Amino acid sequence: MSVIILGIESSCDDTSAAVLRDDVLLSNVIAGQAVHEAYGGVVPELASRAHQQNIVPVVSEALRQAGIGGGELDAVAFTRGPGLLGSLLVGVSFAKGLALALGVPLVEVNHLQAHVLSHFIRRKDGGASGVDGRQPAFPFLCLLASGGNSQIIRVDSPVAMDIIGQTIDDAAGEAFDKCAKVMGLGYPGGPVVNRLAAGGNPQAFAFSKPRVQGYDYSFSGLKTSFLYTVRDRVRLEPDFVAANRADLCASLQACIVDVLMEKLCRAAVDLNIREVALAGGVSANSALREALRECAGRHGWNVYIPPLAFTTDNAAMVAMAGRVKYLRGEFCGIDAVPFARTTI
Ligand code: KG4
Repeated sequence: MSVIILGIESSCDDTSAAVLRDDVLLSNVIAGQAVHEAYGGVVPELASRAHQQNIVPVVSEALRQAGIGGGELDAVAFTRGPGLLGSLLVGVSFAKGLALALGVPLVEVNHLQAHVLSHFIRRKDGGASGVDGRQPAFPFLCLLASGGNSQIIRVDSPVAMDIIGQTIDDAAGEAFDKCAKVMGLGYPGGPVVNRLAAGGNPQAFAFSKPRVQGYDYSFSGLKTSFLYTVRDRVRLEPDFVAANRADLCASLQACIVDVLMEKLCRAAVDLNIREVALAGGVSANSALREALRECAGRHGWNVYIPPLAFTTDNAAMVAMAGRVKYLRGEFCGIDAVPFARTTI
């Protein structure tokens, strides 16, 4: 018999709901929050208010698009953390109320595990949702790079994941966003930098690269180096940013991608793992995707790149992670509280 799961995601500034029948995605509705654009970053209080406005229409629309009535759901899965507490509280409370009203189990999901498990969602025609139409085999390495995380995860099974490296300060997405802010680009800056970089020279500027032990990352020094380069050059040439925007974006992007790829490649070689995947918002970056493919070609790896809809925060991945736990009978009570910080 098929299992139908509703997933709810509200960890940051996207309100999302999705319906999954077995591993096939029936709907995935995402409401972004334009309110943060004016501030150049997510304002937590505004995010939780926007989630409150969005959650009912988003869940209704996800059920409508899936053609599923609330009474047909087998479980409600929700993101418990990590994320912004005020934002998480909206999704967690709504999921609890709905599960109680429907008399179905409640499943808590770790947002980071959900990003990794997005690789196992199938399309309605039964095909794998990844851009190459394949799913990773275990064990695989997953680079999870987003606005809040930069981790290399060894995935031995859907329930056995180990973080073997992670950022010791800022995440890669944060470096994209903060440097974009220095250039006066909008928020989130990552996609804008990606677009402008297409017309620039990646070797035009050099920014300092971190020297961190093992497979860990650091992006705070790169951010400072970018800021100081711009500050010093603007003193001599007030129009420096406008005149060099494409080159700045291309150089910044090349530097972040180099840093991410260097550790990922080393980890895959050291551990002799030939299945390598990307996940998280930064995995939408075209230069990162290209660099992984190029590296995979040299080493004979299979790579797995998520479709754009599953790179940034979405409830499809939450429903998928919820399904894994549902099948294992791992339910939670209505006393479950959100966590701002969790690990895998
Ligand atoms: O996973 P995500 O939606 O949110 C969390 O951090 O939870 O990731 C958002 C991040 C932002 O920092 C955004 O700038 C970055 O992903 N991002 C990109 C691109 N698209 C989104 N960074 C670089 N290139 C992109 N194309």
